[in-house]
Amino acid sequence: MQKRRGSMRKLYSWPVIPTTAAIVCCGALALSAQTDLSGYWAFRIKDGGVNYYQLQQNGESFGTVPPVAGQGGGFRGRGLAGTVKNGKVHLEMVNSMPAAPAAGAPGAAARPAAAAAGGPGGGQTRVYEGVVTNPNRIDVTLTTTGRDAGVLKGWFERVSKDEAVPTRIPSPELRDLPDNGMVRTPPMGWNSWNKFADEIDDKTVRRIADAMVSSGMAKAGYTYIVVDEGWSSGRDANGKIIPNGKFPDMKALADYVHSKGLKIGIYSSPGPQSCWGRVGGGGYQGSWKHEEEDAQTFADWGYDYLKYDQCTAGEVYDNTTQDSQAAYQKMGEALLKTGRPMVYSLCQYGAHDVWKWGGKAGGNLWRTTGDINDSWGSMERIGFAQLDISKYVKVGHWNDPDMLEVGNGGMMADEYRTHMSLWSMLAAPLMAGNDLRTMTEETKSILMNPDVIAIDQDRGEFQPVQRLSVQGKTEVLIRQLSGNAYAVGLYNRGDEPAEITFRWDDLKFDTGLGSRRLAATDLWKHESVTVSGDTYTATVPKHGVVLLRVAVATGRGGFGF
Ligand code: GLA
Repeated sequence: MQKRRGSMRKLYSWPVIPTTAAIVCCGALALSAQTDLSGYWAFRIKDGGVNYYQLQQNGESFGTVPPVAGQGGGFRGRGLAGTVKNGKVHLEMVNSMPAAPAAGAPGAAARPAAAAAGGPGGGQTRVYEGVVTNPNRIDVTLTTTGRDAGVLKGWFERVSKDEAVPTRIPSPELRDLPDNGMVRTPPMGWNSWNKFADEIDDKTVRRIADAMVSSGMAKAGYTYIVVDEGWSSGRDANGKIIPNGKFPDMKALADYVHSKGLKIGIYSSPGPQSCWGRVGGGGYQGSWKHEEEDAQTFADWGYDYLKYDQCTAGEVYDNTTQDSQAAYQKMGEALLKTGRPMVYSLCQYGAHDVWKWGGKAGGNLWRTTGDINDSWGSMERIGFAQLDISKYVKVGHWNDPDMLEVGNGGMMADEYRTHMSLWSMLAAPLMAGNDLRTMTEETKSILMNPDVIAIDQDRGEFQPVQRLSVQGKTEVLIRQLSGNAYAVGLYNRGDEPAEITFRWDDLKFDTGLGSRRLAATDLWKHESVTVSGDTYTATVPKHGVVLLRVAVATGRGGFGF
């Protein structure tokens, strides 16, 4: 779902000489057949982003170049085809929304629940009806059906090729950026995307911040409120990024979130634009060619966290490790230069083994996967795939298997408990992605289970999670924790309840005690577990988990064996 850039506008200076035969009629410029509307155009709506098109007029036929077939046809973005007759324009989006990419495919921007009306990405139509106001402007009414159905006023505006087509600039030399010293445990917070997509606004963010505190989430450790896609509009005459009408004052918003004792995050892209756009409006701003300015703006506004999403970077960087690292390094350097501590969250869907260089580019966390969605299949596939790269996790540099879906309604409670248990054993960032204002008691009990959070946030010398055993569709994962303890997760990925067993002796405790005594607790049942015999066996429900903390008993009450 690539959208186009919306950098500073250089209005095209009347490249088309209006034909002498042009007749002004009824507020529209009725153009004779000789007038050529061919060229580069930006389509804008108020408070939206921008889509760029190369349009070609051929007699009365009018549309994108070259003729479009299938996804992403035409010059840029989805194609348009239609007519221009007597100054009246009729254009239709040529192809309907392409089917959503396979869940979790690299860069697959899974459309979250709130925005999926009209089917997951399918069946959208867009019709632009309007008049040629002058040879450089076409005012239109855009009628959308399917996803984001509605009627909007917008306009096409002629732009230079230079604006419409990004020209590459040299990438910086690679170097290792210093550790910014932040997030010594995986970041915890909330991000707007999974629940709200880009239908997020200042007021909702404030109410979420209120709910973060009143629900107990803040006390449980959730700190960062991250505004994802959808806050920006364009750039002012000085090139400074500006918010759109849904976010009247980004600094005031940061001040509000800070006043609640929380921290706030913002979102941008190394490309010219970010990934998603409002109805017909196109993509929001990216930071390409504005990295230092934007980092400084975010710092001046008081932001504490940047999620930097690849999106349109492919238009201006090569799809290589070198270029990907360079793109992220550029912003990493810019953030350091501001002097404001800001968590740097890389999001390029795990391409080019980002876990091997994300830290060098200044990253504190990096997405290791395409987008999660609120389904067992997506969460399970992403979560268990992390085991192979868990050894790359270091303090302050976390693998990020994407935000939590707990509480969004697409999974059973057992599946959400598996989600939370797995993310905690992985030491993954815990970024809630649900509506904190309306959480059920069950959702709260999952997101705010202090013992499970403690595994995620363990402060010992960091040890990555390991796979102890796999049998059929069951897995036993273990992670060594501080305090001479282990987390042991018995995961059932199958569709029937299953008995899962592990040997106590497989937990290699660092203890000088001759005869070891262990104490174990079931962290979801909140009760102690008898440690006896050589093994432990639990019956684990379909898609469920039994999560234990096993420690060397410190006083009386341990169970000897
Ligand atoms: C990408 C990211 C998501 C979200 C959207 C916003 O798909 O992976 O987490 O930020 O973009 O468009």
